[in-house]
Amino acid sequence: MVNSLTLLNQRKIYVTRTLPEEAMKLLHSNFEVEVWPDEMPPPKSLLIEKVKEVDGLISLLTEQIDEEVIKAAGPQFKGISQVAVGFNNIDLKAATKKGIYVTNTPGVLTDTTADFAFALLMAVARRVAEADRYVKAGKWKVPWGLMMMLGQDVWGKTIGIIGLGRIGSAVARRAKGMNMKILYYDVYRNEQAETELGAKYVPLETLLKEADFVTIHVPLLPSTYHLMNEERLKMMKKTACLINTSRGPVVDEKALYKALTEGWIWAAGLDVWENEPTDPDNPLLKLDNVTAAPHIASGSIATRTKMAVMAAENMVAILEGRVPPNLVNKEVLEVRPPEKE
Ligand code: GLV
Repeated sequence: MVNSLTLLNQRKIYVTRTLPEEAMKLLHSNFEVEVWPDEMPPPKSLLIEKVKEVDGLISLLTEQIDEEVIKAAGPQFKGISQVAVGFNNIDLKAATKKGIYVTNTPGVLTDTTADFAFALLMAVARRVAEADRYVKAGKWKVPWGLMMMLGQDVWGKTIGIIGLGRIGSAVARRAKGMNMKILYYDVYRNEQAETELGAKYVPLETLLKEADFVTIHVPLLPSTYHLMNEERLKMMKKTACLINTSRGPVVDEKALYKALTEGWIWAAGLDVWENEPTDPDNPLLKLDNVTAAPHIASGSIATRTKMAVMAAENMVAILEGRVPPNLVNKEVLEVRPPEKE
């Protein structure tokens, strides 16, 4: 008799990048695994070929899994397990329509991402990256400059958090520790954060006008595309800093360049970009009041491992016919009900 383990072992998955060892072990013990060997993302044409024959795909946020890729999936193809909390690179509607489960890795990266957002906030306020460049370039001549490289205070200032979900709330906890006044804007009220952290819900316009630090923690959706445009950047204080660790296209980079060079705002810290990797000729990179990072907010050794293991567990659940723990397109259960509890 063929037991279910044998059947699971016959399942094939495609993994778009080598994952940390613990996750790879879990996958190899359950499936026939093929891995894209390069550091650069696989071409879309390859994904189209793979989804025709495999049962599941483990993806990173760099893969454009659009309608064309999803339509190409064979009838055996059951799920896409993304190693990220964001999933704007996947056409969710098309997946749901086809009965394809899509999962992400929420929770495990919350504190790591919030740590980085706060690190960027502090770095921007106190010009840490600029100071590093200055000293290493041999520009430090005056032994102690009373007015040299002055920054903005953080302690006791006002933070404006756009998007008070898991990561936004974790940033708010850090801000509370820095004695900051916490304003937030979201499409949902977060009463828990209001009670526990004293976060105050305000309209976006008020947040932008009053905050010394504006930090973004929303997903990329049609409604958040270029949320920070010229009009909204102009509402910010001239001394304010903008921090983005969410998705690049939430900020209109052209408008941000104007804001930073024409003095509408003081500085920006960007971990995410409209195009990634951002072009080395991106004019924002020439500005001293921009602190740049290469989309590493969730990048601690421990967290990236947890994300990969979580993605592997999601895939095991999908191919065992269970409802995976981190299903993002819940409506898919009506199109393809789970085979098991
Ligand atoms: C990273 O940006 C993620 O969405 O996990």
